[in-house]
Amino acid sequence: MKIYSILRSKTAMMIIDQTLLPLQEKRIEIKDYRQMIEAIKALRIRGAPAIGLAAAGAAWLASMEFEKDSNFKEKLLQAIAEIELSRPTAVNLFHALNGVKEIIAKTKEEELVFAIYEYLDSLFHYEYDSSKAMAQNGFDYIPKEYTRFLTHCNTGALATYGFGTALGVIGRIAEERQIKVYADETRPLLQGARLTMWELQKMGIPAVLISDNMAAHTIKEHKIDCIIAGADRICKNGDTANKIGTMNLAILADYFKIPFYIAAPESTIDRELDNGSLIKIEERNKAEVRQFGGQQTAPVECDVFNPAFDVSPAHLIKAIITEKKVYEYPYKF
Ligand code: MRU
Repeated sequence: MKIYSILRSKTAMMIIDQTLLPLQEKRIEIKDYRQMIEAIKALRIRGAPAIGLAAAGAAWLASMEFEKDSNFKEKLLQAIAEIELSRPTAVNLFHALNGVKEIIAKTKEEELVFAIYEYLDSLFHYEYDSSKAMAQNGFDYIPKEYTRFLTHCNTGALATYGFGTALGVIGRIAEERQIKVYADETRPLLQGARLTMWELQKMGIPAVLISDNMAAHTIKEHKIDCIIAGADRICKNGDTANKIGTMNLAILADYFKIPFYIAAPESTIDRELDNGSLIKIEERNKAEVRQFGGQQTAPVECDVFNPAFDVSPAHLIKAIITEKKVYEYPYKF
């Protein structure tokens, strides 16, 4: 059965609350853009492509709320500015909202709610189609003899709309041959353990969970063929931001001489940003690192550094797989 982490109806958005997985599969209806901002911040909805959809969905909810107000466009732009502050790193959120702003600039007020809904709808179609094409491009590109894959964080249907990015490619490969997937648990919020393992079980793909610090030993002992991850922002030179810990894997791939691939839709490429040093890295609440599974595991007041993403340098990435094509280093988008 296909998983849809985010859906739209004619009056509301629906999301699966990903903070409750794998223990509980609960859908929430969202009718207020402020509630969507809270959901994005709390990672109830997460993953770069899904965040883009959630942001555009929030803008559409705001448009319905302010439709009857005299200063409709002004209030809507203010709401969009609030949505932009929810999470800084995934460029999909900003691309989606820039699209809404373009519509606001060129559309009459009385047609605006409908125009934004149509745009939202087109984004859903884009994400679905691109995740399918990306999976096929990855399948065609990755050598047929590879059967052991290591991945990080969650890049499946939950993080997108459709098939996923890295996990979409892996899923397509699993349709044709016997493979095994090793998933990093992804400290501190365990997207790999909670979400990727849940998805892999649903997909019927043999999978092994490891904690992040087991990656080097696992690559060596279990003869991992390649590493494949998703992305939250890819710069013009190919430097790629993804979940914290991804750069460790890029470095390990280089050390063990196995390919490190990124799979992401074109909507994750930031053609405005020259290189990774310019990416704003989200820093999250220190409590996330002082705890494990909600349980205190460090002194309450101890200092913590909690970046949510890191940037893998382009030269460590063998290829970037999008729905359009497979790019190889040195990158030219
Ligand atoms: O903080 P998250 O869970 O939103 O981070 C998600 C990731 O880093 C994913 O790997 C990324 O968005 C890539 S693809 C869906």
